Amino acid sequence: MYPRFSSILFILLAISSSFVAPSQSRKFNANKPCKHLVLHFHDIMFTGHNAGNATAAVIANETQLSETYKFGKFIVFNDPLTADSSLQSPPVAWAQGFYFYDMKTTFNAWFACSLVFNSTEHKGTINIMGADIMDAETRDLSVVGGTGDFFMTRGIATLRTEEMEGVAYFRVLMDVKLYECH
Ligand SMILES: *[C@@H]1O[C@H](CO)[C@@H](O)[C@H](O)[C@H]1NC(C)=O
Ligand SMILES: *[C@@H]1O[C@H](CO)[C@@H](O)[C@H](O)[C@H]1NC(C)=O
Ligand SMILES: *[C@@H]1O[C@H](CO)[C@@H](O)[C@H](O)[C@H]1NC(C)=O
Repeated sequence: MYPRFSSILFILLAISSSFVAPSQSRKFNANKPCKHLVLHFHDIMFTGHNAGNATAAVIANETQLSETYKFGKFIVFNDPLTADSSLQSPPVAWAQGFYFYDMKTTFNAWFACSLVFNSTEHKGTINIMGADIMDAETRDLSVVGGTGDFFMTRGIATLRTEEMEGVAYFRVLMDVKLYECH
């Protein structure tokens, strides 16, 4: 009985590997993204007096669990993304999402957003989420999917803080490498 079971198992494996084969031929190349976007993310915090140009707002304050590291503070944003580092440059897309502080011992956030493109160059969204360890010089977040020109995409978005003006304004370089393009 044991040999017969193993021969059935062998046949099943042979069948399933023949189904796996086509997707292996599409296997991504980790050294060569199929699309690469470099974007600058500008965040202007709402102070109560800058509704004209603010792009982000605190919707819940830090808790007493760790006021130093803002544990629990929650921010919603709709931030312009530009092709160069100037805030005055016309946005090429918008980053719509949120982040919240989630560590007691250092500044750390969990971050999720959609990059929304609606231009002649690109139409669609790229969806990003992951831990934003703010102490780290660069942080890798997952690109978990996309729509439109970015249908079913996946990849890595590397964030690097370029400028920080207290809590009022920050600019982050977003280096988005997509490894699955359809
Ligand atoms: C937002 O607008 C105000 C008022 O025009 C200006 O003082 C401030 O510098 C602007 N903030 C940024 C980050 O450009
Ligand atoms: C957060 O705290 C600040 C300062 O105390 C206060 O002005 C603001 O209204 C609070 N925001 C929320 C969403 O509770
Ligand atoms: C995208 O841009 C087109 C052309 O400017 C506009 O008609 C459309 O409403 C925009 N769509 C969104 C979702 O902003």
